[in-house]
Amino acid sequence: MPERQLHFNVLVMDSGYHESAWRVLEADPRAVLGLGHYAAIARIAERGLLDSLFFADYPGLAEFRVEFMPQPHFDPIDLVSALAPLTTHIGLIATGSTTYSAPWDLARRFASLDFLSKGRAGWNVVTTATAVAAANFGTAAHPDPAARYARADEYVDVVQRVWDGWEDEALVASRESGVWADRSRLHPPGFHGEHFDVAGILPFPRSPQGHPILAQAGSSPAGIALAAKYADVVFTAQPNVDEGVSFRRELRAQVSASGRSPDALHVRPASRSSWDRRRPRRRNAGTSSKGWRAPSSGGATSCTCRG
Ligand SMILES: Cc1cc2nc3c(=O)[nH]c(=O)nc-3n(C[C@H](O)[C@H](O)[C@H](O)COP(=O)(O)O)c2cc1C
Repeated sequence: MPERQLHFNVLVMDSGYHESAWRVLEADPRAVLGLGHYAAIARIAERGLLDSLFFADYPGLAEFRVEFMPQPHFDPIDLVSALAPLTTHIGLIATGSTTYSAPWDLARRFASLDFLSKGRAGWNVVTTATAVAAANFGTAAHPDPAARYARADEYVDVVQRVWDGWEDEALVASRESGVWADRSRLHPPGFHGEHFDVAGILPFPRSPQGHPILAQAGSSPAGIALAAKYADVVFTAQPNVDEGVSFRRELRAQVSASGRSPDALHVRPASRSSWDRRRPRRRNAGTSSKGWRAPSSGGATSCTCRG
């Protein structure tokens, strides 16, 4: 029988998921504003052989939530970039919004992270559930889920074309000939779509992974379709084992239908805490109209179920 492995990811939630977590910790509550806090978590996770660290992204905060709960939510790509030289092998997954950013810029940022971390970058693709973000980006209204997912589909396509702009062999770096790059191996995306126009290549070669790992966490039909088309990893918070099994079955069927091997996609269900188990379940229990809430209390972990 082939050896099976459990895979764990840790979703790092500032000073903890619970609103009062920062009050019961002995550490200085302000520690969450410094790199040392995250570096300590990263080192423990790496020592414990976890596969990856995962940071969510909320480009906006409703003021009512700030009075009693610290939610600094640093830019997650900056945060994992700072953790890259402090760790050696753990995966570094940062969330990036397809609704509130531009694809060439995000492609460059994740490809940069992939170089700086020596091939440990991952992008959690979200359409951003937090409606307050719209006002921060000068957008008249937060788009509805269908519009967000339509944009996300084109967005990920564009990002992958940008990542593919340099062939693996395009870098020559020859002192003798003075040639840095072979122009015949460069492929500018020259993309003109419904949502985006993106012309040029990145200023540096293809990153160590080529395509940083793609994660996805939406579980609506549109979310599943996006994951089936592009994702390497799916984070999900299903209410019980039966629904988890049927979610995974549906996802794998759609991955096959999109021409990819279902084994190429790993499902990482969120763990449940005892606090969570005591409460009655409802569909999408991890989601609220005010924005996404983590499915587990206190730094959720999740595991990959293969096979
Ligand atoms: C483990 C996990 C992590 C998530 N992280 C984020 C996040 O960082 N930012 C965000 O806007 N949404 C996040 N979400 C929400 C999903 O990306 C998605 O927007 C939400 O589930 C609603 O989409 P759906 O209707 O397709 O399920 C997360 C969901 C899960 C289960």
